[in-house]
Amino acid sequence: MLSFKVPLRFIKALILLLFMLFNIQAFSQSPRSRMDFDKGWHFHLGDMKGVEKTDLNDAAWRSLDLPHDWSIEGKFSKDNPATPEGGALPGGIGWYRKSFTIPASSKDKKVYIDFDGVYQKSTVWINGHELGFRPNGYISFRYDLTPYLKFGGNNVIAVKVDNSVQPNSRWYSGSGIYRNVWLVTTNKVAIDHWGTFVTTPEVKAQSAVVHVQTHVKNASENAAKVILATTIYNPSGKAVLTLNSAEADVAKSNYIAQEIKIDNPVLWSIEHPALYKVVTKVMVGKAVLDEYVTPFGIRYFEFDADKGFSLNGKHMKILGVCEHHDLGSLGAGLNYRALERQLQMLKDMGCNGIRTSHNPPAPELLELCDKMGFVVMDEAFDCWEKGKVKYDYNLFFKDWHKRDLEDQVLRDRNHPSVIMWSIGNEIPQQGDTSALRIAPELAAIVHSLDKTRPLTSANDRPDTSNKIIKSGAIDLVGYNYHEYDFGKFHSRYPGRKFIATETTSGLETRGHYDMPSDSVRIWPNRWDKPFTAGNPDNTVSAYDNVRPPWGSTHEATWKVMKKYDFLSGFFIWTGFDYLGEPTPYSWPSRSSYFGIIDLAGFPKDVYYMYQSEWTDKTVLHILPHWNWEAGKTVDVWAYYNHADEVELFLNGKSLGTKKKEGEDLHVMWRVKYEPGTLKAVSRKDGKVVLTREIHTAGKPAKIQLVADRKNIKADGKDLSFITVKILDKDGNVVPDADNLVNFNINGSGFIAGVDNGSETDHDSFKASYRKALNGLALAIVQTKPKPGAITFTASSKGLQGATVVLQAK
Ligand code: GAL
Repeated sequence: MLSFKVPLRFIKALILLLFMLFNIQAFSQSPRSRMDFDKGWHFHLGDMKGVEKTDLNDAAWRSLDLPHDWSIEGKFSKDNPATPEGGALPGGIGWYRKSFTIPASSKDKKVYIDFDGVYQKSTVWINGHELGFRPNGYISFRYDLTPYLKFGGNNVIAVKVDNSVQPNSRWYSGSGIYRNVWLVTTNKVAIDHWGTFVTTPEVKAQSAVVHVQTHVKNASENAAKVILATTIYNPSGKAVLTLNSAEADVAKSNYIAQEIKIDNPVLWSIEHPALYKVVTKVMVGKAVLDEYVTPFGIRYFEFDADKGFSLNGKHMKILGVCEHHDLGSLGAGLNYRALERQLQMLKDMGCNGIRTSHNPPAPELLELCDKMGFVVMDEAFDCWEKGKVKYDYNLFFKDWHKRDLEDQVLRDRNHPSVIMWSIGNEIPQQGDTSALRIAPELAAIVHSLDKTRPLTSANDRPDTSNKIIKSGAIDLVGYNYHEYDFGKFHSRYPGRKFIATETTSGLETRGHYDMPSDSVRIWPNRWDKPFTAGNPDNTVSAYDNVRPPWGSTHEATWKVMKKYDFLSGFFIWTGFDYLGEPTPYSWPSRSSYFGIIDLAGFPKDVYYMYQSEWTDKTVLHILPHWNWEAGKTVDVWAYYNHADEVELFLNGKSLGTKKKEGEDLHVMWRVKYEPGTLKAVSRKDGKVVLTREIHTAGKPAKIQLVADRKNIKADGKDLSFITVKILDKDGNVVPDADNLVNFNINGSGFIAGVDNGSETDHDSFKASYRKALNGLALAIVQTKPKPGAITFTASSKGLQGATVVLQAK
């Protein structure tokens, strides 16, 4: 037997070497991890004492996965403190707890928890230690868990969410940890939270200069000598260039700047939203201590006082919409697919801009806008020191505005979609000298972190007495409404740049029509008095003939916007209906009438006006439906494009040919109703372009189910949106059908929400049934985290039911 003696010293050295190699390898494989921390929380609605303590037994609490909005699960009542303006759903206090283990091997790491948004007034504890308080319900924030963690043991995080003091919002806020949560683990030497800033100071067709500023932090005892190896990946995912920085000393913290030239850059645009990424490796010797990915786009844009907006040298108008954050029947609970669907519908309408009214959005919204090609006005506040409702952010502005605004800019400044910052919407201090102090202060905060984007504010008093505009703090003069004044902008503000930060506020209920269609109703007629002149069932006509006193019809504002190049763009109030603010009504209404698309995601007719104007798609859309009392005079409208004229036929008889003249955006026939078939034919140069037919529908006879996607991901988050149509025996949608439909679901999915787009329906969004509104309802199916078939069935008394089978893969 062979035997020899190995010196102990040698064994120790070998172990040390192996240990180091292992560590280097471990670092190079995953120097940073960012874990989805949404699963496995416990929730209790109501306040309790001692919940932050580790030993509290929460076994009886409800188990759930985030994101979670408890308000959307509640009952509508006019007595809820949110009021109908806030969506009439309950608020309150809620507690969340989660137990988790951290491996002993992480004891030399830093561990953070990142919240994308908690509404509102959240306090977070780890193992009984209070980490902090954040009042702002829309801001993203991080806590360092490291000092209080039990490595190799069990840890408890507790979050108190306080949305009990209301009203604190002018629209539906939701309540809870309604956005994603992440657990981030890094080495002690690592890139800071939101620690890179990528800009493209020079962009030409042949080359672009990319500037990368990286904030490296060192939480260890000893200073580190760091080299950054920065690689740029092109939009096809190929590494095009790596640049090593000079060695830098990082004692506690250091900002390292690098400049990289890229040949033949692929520019980010609305039509081709090409995304590059920077991968930054933090090297100490050969060890990779961190690896950080920053997506970015190469693009340049300009707002010109005379020529308006241009992107990459190409003039275009910003055709935007304002959006609140709720996702209809899903409430405020963030869902990537639900957001993507909204944006896809807006994109298909020709919309190219989003305003995040009136708060920082979910990070996923900006990610999607980067990917899908939208420009974004990223807005911070709905008020400063003076509030709009009693308990809104005015209570926190003084202490928190700097931190909140800094965090918003740090988080969002790498997104190519973001092209302007807004420091506030209709700030009550517009007329107050305090704005001369606050506006420049906010501008300085933004500019200290980003000088590449212009600043604006959304002003409902855009005259020269406005102190925000007077303060000189904003680059783009933002107008809310006042479209009749747009043309005179330069006589009021010579040489200045214009943006319509908010316009229109047209009002419509999908599928409801009041005639005559060519007279505009101003609802409410006074904004300072209760409104009594509306329809008894709280509907509003969908002919684009109703507006509030401060707003306009859709056509009126678009006609002005089209006229002048210097009108760089506008953001229509709103793309989608949202919960709360049910102007012109109040209870029993509980959601808005302002959307171009209703709360369930069904387009109102005016969607097709925009589509006919803003896209290359060939459009012919006729309205209203064709079910009326015999002999009634009915106004028939057509939105169309790519054609010279439209001819209308009733039961085969021509009612004449019409063409848009001058500024017209639609044509109209006044028709004596008789049941049957209404047919429109658009023609160009005498040739038929499109034909549309609507038929008088008979009685409801059957249900049709149309799923937007039948194959969905079995990740517990993906959705299929199922449109439920009430048809007559011949397959026509019955335009006034309100049948109650019951749903049944089996397999690997559940019903996440039901809706119909009604502003007054008080049935629960979480029920397994829904009444139709004007022939349509919606069911949203969410997958369970396991693959399999999902069988979804709809039935209704007296109707032939329907089934659709989805696959969760
Ligand atoms: C605006 C306001 C929006 C919304 C809208 C309704 O004045 O900025 O938040 O309230 O009116 O028309």
